[in-house]
Amino acid sequence: MPVVRGKNIDPLFTAEQIRARNLELAQDILAGPCDDLLVISILKGSFIFAADLIRALHDVGLAPEVEFITLSSYGTGTVSQGVRVIKDIDSDVKGRNVLLIDDILESGRTLLFARELMLERGASNVTIAVLLDKKNKRKEDFEADYVGFDCPDYFVVGYGMDVAYAFRELPFVGVVTGDA
Ligand code: IMP
Ligand code: MG
Repeated sequence: MPVVRGKNIDPLFTAEQIRARNLELAQDILAGPCDDLLVISILKGSFIFAADLIRALHDVGLAPEVEFITLSSYGTGTVSQGVRVIKDIDSDVKGRNVLLIDDILESGRTLLFARELMLERGASNVTIAVLLDKKNKRKEDFEADYVGFDCPDYFVVGYGMDVAYAFRELPFVGVVTGDA
């Protein structure tokens, strides 16, 4: 099992599995509404997935415009939870086909908020791509259009995802199982 900075990390999805799946996702995206596509990566967690997915989009012949938005959840536990924009995109989404990219779909609150925001701003179509789907954790009636992998209810790290700001740089998705 890989040991990274004193922690055992059990790989869940390997770099090779992710690479192959990204190409399949790109082919699925190509078959959907992708004319004049505007891709919006939701920071921070999706930056590596988005970087790889847009290159897979290139490989299937698409040339998307790329934007970034930083969203943050607030409120925990018993406090009602919401999502807010920390840093916004620069482009106008009016009349555009928008593809939102995120790392994990969990409660659905982040992506529901982001999709509503883009539709309110006049996007003609909004689709959602996520690397991982934790279906059992859903709190909203929400599904993604393109899902990399169904994910068990573990807290995962790597490939852009962190625990306490660590492990984003790992080339695979894994679960921290304890001290090495
Ligand atoms: P939700 O769908 O609004 O609950 O948002 C899910 C977000 O929570 C993801 O975009 C991640 O930023 C974060 N998140 C959820 N589960 C994990 C995990 O296992 N590892 C790292 N971040 C996670
Ligand atoms: Mg996130």
